[in-house]
This record gives sequence, C-alpha cells and structure tokens, in this order.
Amino acid sequence: MQIGISRHHSFMRDSAKPLKSATALDPKYYINSDTYHHEVNKMIPKGWQIVAPAQSVGGSGDVIARTLGDIPIIIVRSPSGALNGFYNICPHRAGPLAMCDKRGAKRLRCAYHGWAYDFDGQLKSAPEMNEAEDFDASAIQLTPINVKEWHGMIFAKAGDGLEFDTVIAEIDQIVGAQIDDMVYHSSIAYDVNANWKVYIDNYLEGYHLPFVHPSLTQAVDYSVYITELGKYWSLQRAPVDDETGAYESGEALYFFIYPNTMLNIMPGRLQTNRVVPTGINRCTVEFDFYYSPGVERRAPADIEFSEQVQEEDRLICEHVQKGLASGVYSPGRLSPARESGVWHWQNLLRADYLNADLL
Ligand code: FES
Ligand SMILES: [Fe+2]
Repeated sequence: MQIGISRHHSFMRDSAKPLKSATALDPKYYINSDTYHHEVNKMIPKGWQIVAPAQSVGGSGDVIARTLGDIPIIIVRSPSGALNGFYNICPHRAGPLAMCDKRGAKRLRCAYHGWAYDFDGQLKSAPEMNEAEDFDASAIQLTPINVKEWHGMIFAKAGDGLEFDTVIAEIDQIVGAQIDDMVYHSSIAYDVNANWKVYIDNYLEGYHLPFVHPSLTQAVDYSVYITELGKYWSLQRAPVDDETGAYESGEALYFFIYPNTMLNIMPGRLQTNRVVPTGINRCTVEFDFYYSPGVERRAPADIEFSEQVQEEDRLICEHVQKGLASGVYSPGRLSPARESGVWHWQNLLRADYLNADLL
C-alpha cells in the first residue's frame, strides 16, 4: 500500500495548467538546494535585471561592483560614455577587480595581485610574469556581460538569454515617456527571511491587499485592479486617489520583469525593486526611488509609506516561508480573478525548471 502511494507521487510533475485549473508552485522549489543553486548560478544571472541607477556610473572610469545571482560583476563607464560590464573575476586566480564602487578609475586593477585591464577588459600589465613561458597577455581578457541603460537605470545580464528589447520594448511603449524625466533620488535595501520567490509571488497579486495592506487599499482602488500579461513581464494597474497622502491622483502601475525586477510607478514617481537571493530562505530587496521634477517634495511621505508596506509584506512572506518549509503543505488552487500574475510567473519558472531537468 505504502509503496503504491509513493510511486504514484514520484511521477506526478508540477506541470503548467490553464489558469482556471491552476495550482501554486510545489513547495519543494522553495526549500531545495539543487533548485537554489540552479537559480543563483544559471536562471537569475541570465535574466535582465536592474542593477543600479545610471548616475552611479556617471563619469569616465566610474565602476560599480554588484552580483547577478551568485556571479560577481562590475560595470564601468568608458571615456567614450559606453557602459562595459564583466565578471568581477580575474582570470589569474579569481580575485576581484573591484571590491566596492569607485569613481574615476584609470584601469581595472585586480585587488589580489595587481593585474591591470583596460575598460574593454584587455589585460595590459601583469607584474612579475616575465619568467612564465608562453605567457601571452594579449590573449587574456575579462569575460564580458551585457549591459543596457534605459531611462536612467542600468540593466545587466550574463551569458545567453533574451535580447533586451524582447523583454523591455512593450514596457517602454506603455510607460517609457512617463518615466523619462524622472531623476534618481535615493536607495534603500530590506532583508527578508524568505526564499526570493516568496517575495515575488506576493508581489504579483493584489489579492492580499485588503488583508495585509489596509492603508494601501485606501489609496489604490482594489475593485478595478487589472493584471496584464506579457511574455516575460506582467503589469498590475489600478487607479490611485490619495490627494491628501503621499501620492497624486492617477494610476498605479506595477511591472514585474522576469526573473527578479519590478518597476512601481505612481504619478511622478518610479520605485524599482530587485529581489536578490542571499540564501535558500533569505533575500534582500533593493529599492531605488526616482521622481519627476517637483514631485521629489513628496519623497519623505512616499518613502515612509513604502517602508510600512514593505514591512507588511516582509512579515507575511516570512510566515509563508515557514508554511512552505513545514513539509505538510500541498499546493493550493489559484484565484483566476486575482492570481493570474502568480500563475504566469510560476509557469515561467516551471518552463525553466523543466529545461534544467529540475521539474
Ligand atoms: S587574482 Fe587577479 S591578479 Fe591574481
Ligand atoms: Fe504586498
């Protein structure tokens, strides 16, 4: 009897289903280390994601050090104004080209033994290598990554994967003009004790608004909340009416860009998020704030309010992680009216897991 049951279980796949019969993703993907290592080494690095505001590399020789999943990267502004990105991994013995952000560097000099590269990633000098036989410095380069600047934000990805326009062109049509005049204001990061996907699952539905965010529900009209699905993005939109609070009236637009970027647009304000895994059951969410000229006066109220919403989301996500990790939860049915964004993203995950032989 027992054997029969476990056999039955072993060939049940967590496959994609139509929205009306869909269930949530299997909890094993939130706790399993094979999944996690695939995500931080492969899935996340190859997805376009926001890494910084463009002004953090505003001048020639400005360098930022970040990570894509578990891969350290650097991005540098060359004298021509172009942005070049590389693995932050020296071909000598894997040292870092930069351990922190820098302004006005002349070369990319490894912090370990001083090998120096130009801004195209070409090795230019390597101390005390004269006696190494057949050592050809001209054949040694940093490994490049892809970098794009879009309305004052820097996106990056490593390895193959989609073209930037495949991911961003439709979003640019919907909202590019609206965010074009916005100016970077400030950044903040929050740690959450939950798997990075729990945070994204939660982001992708307004279903929880009345229960988790009573004050947000007063500003955003939940009754006419709409979700639109692109191929690698989704958009939740709803009218905003909050004359006395942090926001002008208009529309709230919440874009999710697979795998881990969000653009949260209120009238005159853009808040970007990147969800960065820091362990199987931990993540950091990076927030950057941008405002249209004149609207930055609302920044203190806006940032305080978003901190409150973030705290409410953090708390619910940490409880959900405990439920997923309990070993006694099986995936539940999704609301077709309210969870199409969750369904869409979890199907992108399932397709990726299937490709990687993890499904
Ligand atoms: S690891 Fe970079 S110079 Fe040695
Ligand atoms: Fe929320």
